[in-house]
Amino acid sequence: MRAGTDGPFDRFTIEIAVTVRAGRREDLIYLDGWPGFDTPAHRQALRYYLQQHRLGEGAFLVADMGGIPVGQLFLWYLREDTELGDGHTVASITALRVWPGFRRRGIATRLAAVAERVAWQLGFRTLTIGTDIDNEKAHGLYRRWGYREFKRSTYEWDGRIFPQVCLRKALTGPAPGTQPETAGPRPTT
Ligand SMILES: CC(C)(COP(=O)(O)OP(=O)(O)OC[C@H]1O[C@@H](n2cnc3c(N)ncnc32)[C@H](O)[C@@H]1OP(=O)(O)O)[C@@H](O)C(=O)NCCC(=O)NCCS
Repeated sequence: MRAGTDGPFDRFTIEIAVTVRAGRREDLIYLDGWPGFDTPAHRQALRYYLQQHRLGEGAFLVADMGGIPVGQLFLWYLREDTELGDGHTVASITALRVWPGFRRRGIATRLAAVAERVAWQLGFRTLTIGTDIDNEKAHGLYRRWGYREFKRSTYEWDGRIFPQVCLRKALTGPAPGTQPETAGPRPTT
């Protein structure tokens, strides 16, 4: 390479709107390839979240920046462990992640606030969230959101068992400053 072509050549700041909306199939082009989450098991899970959303058995939310999902969260209504999600009063935040370049800008916090609002509107009164035992930063973030540990358990992922910390929070109503997000219909079972 010739000298003087390495840059950087320019640096500027722009304001970009972020919309929290329902995830859709077209998002898979981006979500399938996220660094660290680009495995067959993750891709299968993403399709499951979209399907559950369509069936009204969960809410798959993404943070959209210029048409590109830069954050995601799946609100799971009914889980095998009904202490985490019983389909009626307790639902569970799962698969929360933000594209590395856009972390620490409050995107996860806004996604979680929308999830709490959606859950409240659907009649859920408690939200749970599980985190890997060694994910102390995420644990600290959830504590800041008001979640508290209530048990330790394990979860199965891609044929392996992992220990997790389970936290929960009693919902008190919609958080101010967020717009409602359209979720699928509430399951009748
Ligand atoms: C956890 C995660 C979703 C947070 O997203 P985010 O948009 O950066 O979160 P916010 O901007 O709303 O909050 C930032 C806080 O997240 C916390 N945090 C959680 N994980 C973190 C990490 N790996 N690195 C840095 N901060 C992290 C920090 O406390 C940070 O607060 P600070 O900036 O005051 O230090 C994001 O780091 C992520 O996608 N991590 C990888 C996937 C993951 O671990 N998901 C959680 C599974 S339980």
